[in-house]
Amino acid sequence: MDSLRFFLPTTIESGANCVRLAAERWVCGNKALLVTGHGGAAASGALADVQTALEARGVAWTLFDGISANPDADQVYAGVARAKEEGCDFVVGIGGGSPLDAAKAIAWAVAMDVPQERFFRMRPEPEDKALPIVAIPTTCGTGSEVTPYSIITDHHAKTKKNVSGPSLFPRTALLDARYLSSLPPAVLCDTALDALSHAIEGAYSPRCSRFTEMMALEAVHTIVPELVRMAHGVFVNLAQLQYAATVAGVVIAQTGTGLVHAMGYPLTYYKGIPHGRANGILLAGYLDFMVRPCAALTERILEAAHLTSGEELHGLVDALLDTMGTTPEAPSEDELMRYTREPLRLELVRRYRTMPSPEEVMDIYRTGF
Ligand SMILES: [Fe+2]
Repeated sequence: MDSLRFFLPTTIESGANCVRLAAERWVCGNKALLVTGHGGAAASGALADVQTALEARGVAWTLFDGISANPDADQVYAGVARAKEEGCDFVVGIGGGSPLDAAKAIAWAVAMDVPQERFFRMRPEPEDKALPIVAIPTTCGTGSEVTPYSIITDHHAKTKKNVSGPSLFPRTALLDARYLSSLPPAVLCDTALDALSHAIEGAYSPRCSRFTEMMALEAVHTIVPELVRMAHGVFVNLAQLQYAATVAGVVIAQTGTGLVHAMGYPLTYYKGIPHGRANGILLAGYLDFMVRPCAALTERILEAAHLTSGEELHGLVDALLDTMGTTPEAPSEDELMRYTREPLRLELVRRYRTMPSPEEVMDIYRTGF
């Protein structure tokens, strides 16, 4: 048997009304810091459910709604200050990946008293503590509710940094698919593409065991038919998408992400292309690149996706971009050359099963546009 290493300390509770029905299991302190963005947590109904559940158990809370897309350290530290002022002893992140990631970073920075100027240099150590984290996703993409990762923008380095460690795993993830129903279609699509990318990159990771691959293929198998429905503008099964996004999150919690994410970050940072859409644009070229070193695995991924080639995936992503009414601006060759340096940085090499040359990275970018 292949070597197997699998770690997931997060309890997952799912189903309609699980925030209220499972309150006795997830409420874990005397005062909660509720970390949200500017609208999704309230619009989805999740924020009200959390407040009701806390009040029913006599637990105090304070709302910190200062998290935007691609949160930076200033936002994290505004949350840290609020948690300390208010004496919060657990953190509830509600929303898409940004509030969830920020909630995790806040929980670690408060518990370890990390000074802001050392935030990007002090990596969370395995023995570090964090305030208990409860994660309630209102999108279906990042999988942040079941990962130890917190992606925070570092303006100094002009990219996103991954602040991660075992203490950043949420204690509980609460999945209620009703919260997805208020999502704008473009956000639903972008986040589903992110989840698909997690599953595919996870499958190709050198750290992927047979056990984890089984989950990656399950996520691919579940997400792609929903993307096809989105492209045709017909009913999408939100519970299926939420389930698959969490399964894909469990995958990257074991494997990390790979080349597509590393290549997607510059597209988000410099071109403002949403994270999942940036990954989706790159996926077909990535599959084409991986066919040669990993033919059998690529076949299993395509089979799970009900697709015959990377080209067919490219067609699906194009159709999704059409339904969103958006054509991302293609970067110039000079820009692509600049972006290519990022994923090839030495520290990332071990994350790729096959190391691409700069020209191969450029080709994956070009295939996407
Ligand atoms: Fe992602």
